[in-house]
Amino acid sequence: MCGIIGCVGRGDETLDVLVEGLSKLEYRGYDSAGVALSDGQIDVNVVKRAGELDALREALSEQSVSGRVGIGHTRWSTHGPPTDENAHPHTDCTGSVAVVHNGIIENYDDLREELETSGHEFRSDTDTEVVPHLVEEKLAAGAPPEAAFRAAVERLSGSFALVCVVASEEAVFAARQDSPLVLGVGDDSYYLGSDVPAFLAHTDRVVYLDDGEFATLRPSGWTVRNGDDERVEKSVETVDWNVEDTGKSGYDHYMLKEIHEQPRALRQCLSGRVDERRGEVTLSELEGLETPSAVHLVACGTSYHAALYGVQLFHSLGIPAQAFLASEYATGVPPLGDSLVVGITQSGETADTLSALREARARGARTLAVTNVVGSTAARECDYALYIRAGPEIGVAATKTFSSQLVSLNLLVEYLAGDQRSSEERRAVLQTLRDLPGRVQQVLDESMAEEVAAEYLGADGYFFIGRGLNYPVALEGALKFKEITYEHAEGFAAGELKHGTLALVTENTPVFAVVTGEDAPAKKTLGNVREVESRGAPVIAVTDDDQIERYADASLRVPSGSARVAPVLVNVQLQLVAYWVANALGRSIDKPRNLAKSVTVE
Ligand code: F6R
Repeated sequence: MCGIIGCVGRGDETLDVLVEGLSKLEYRGYDSAGVALSDGQIDVNVVKRAGELDALREALSEQSVSGRVGIGHTRWSTHGPPTDENAHPHTDCTGSVAVVHNGIIENYDDLREELETSGHEFRSDTDTEVVPHLVEEKLAAGAPPEAAFRAAVERLSGSFALVCVVASEEAVFAARQDSPLVLGVGDDSYYLGSDVPAFLAHTDRVVYLDDGEFATLRPSGWTVRNGDDERVEKSVETVDWNVEDTGKSGYDHYMLKEIHEQPRALRQCLSGRVDERRGEVTLSELEGLETPSAVHLVACGTSYHAALYGVQLFHSLGIPAQAFLASEYATGVPPLGDSLVVGITQSGETADTLSALREARARGARTLAVTNVVGSTAARECDYALYIRAGPEIGVAATKTFSSQLVSLNLLVEYLAGDQRSSEERRAVLQTLRDLPGRVQQVLDESMAEEVAAEYLGADGYFFIGRGLNYPVALEGALKFKEITYEHAEGFAAGELKHGTLALVTENTPVFAVVTGEDAPAKKTLGNVREVESRGAPVIAVTDDDQIERYADASLRVPSGSARVAPVLVNVQLQLVAYWVANALGRSIDKPRNLAKSVTVE
């Protein structure tokens, strides 16, 4: 939610580096975008526009903007609508201080009143604008720029990643409190970004800033200082993401590329962790984690659907488990007992999930983050972190990270199963996981989702039903569908439809029925299929079963096999249906309206 970037040491290339970096961060927000460049002497040049990054590119093509250090921002609005004035960077009255911000400044009302009383004029509705004015005050009182920035930040409460340039110095100043900010270390150039893809084209060496830390980047080098103004020695880590992973690789959309990357993502997730012959799972990062007596899984959106799936896996071990929407959990933590609290969050930065985990920790719970982002806040704050290793996901709609979450939860459960699984049982599960990437590839190669999507365009609404492990996938299928097509869709437990929602089912509401396996739940879902069919609804079976095709108007096939991993296969078909419907409707697939990938406000 909001992407920020800073750059020092690239001379005349600074503007290009900033705009290219913003294009990698657009998934964090795309209401408006802007840059500020400083030559370290007199001027800070600011250009910003409402709208997507192309509007900024156009504005930049009409004027010459230069500077040797710079900052940039792509916005997901919280305070004030997306207008040119509300776009970042924000400046002070003199135009010599520019600031970009991700997060929320909670005491901005008081600060704004105080600053207005002392003569500062504000031009935007944003909370951020107080920051450059505070820096201006400190500069006017004689503080050097670094100290002025620090003193301004000390006045703020809330969550922020802030990056600032001041006209009189060739430097970039930054502060982090509860919002992500990573420093990139090049050979003679230094970067800041909300996320590594912002500067991955220039360096893969990163420093993860912690809450309460300040960073200063100058052409001569970088320093990090803590809240007591003491220098902090930070370790420089190398990330194993490739710059190619952050491009579209010839696909029209990141989402389609990421759907097709799933076999590779799943192989990465399993790599070095599974010995199917010996029936062993190795998760070195979880060493010391004992089998819990109960589990709470907390998450939002798609990750919550993974949590619902995870619950059923824990139940198969006899471990009581519950999934909670993180925002509700943080509002009222249920009795914890000795539960392990597992936060599932691909970004590791979702504010609701972080709050839920913090509440649980404050009550003495052990916490575990299941996340894609090494060094993310969730990974650092939890007692344990299990990385899903999906690689960068740029499309706002989560696709490969969901599949990798499901596989990671399988690994977690098998790791914790101890004696509760015979080695034969575990060998069978692990072999199934090992075979999964190949089966996903088969689904991708043979999918008829594009044809099905074309056939059912223009319906009044779409329903998705499933039972057992396929229930979370029905919810996920509907969420993905509405998120990128803007069409109405709802997911239901197959048995629940008849308890009210069946009233909405007509010949113009296609029902995607997820039915896999031949056991009792599948047979019951078949009964639910007949219920909707007899109300005239077209049924699209997403299935591994020949039988159900007799009752369906169309089908999307997945290879038959283990019920445990069938949801991953089925979900790939549903991702593709959502994609092709959205594509036919000309939607903004990678950046759906009103959304952002990383939601860092509660
Ligand atoms: C939907 C989607 C969201 C996220 C949710 C949680 O496609 O991506 O529903 O799943 O915002 O995000 P993370 O997993 O980063 O905590």
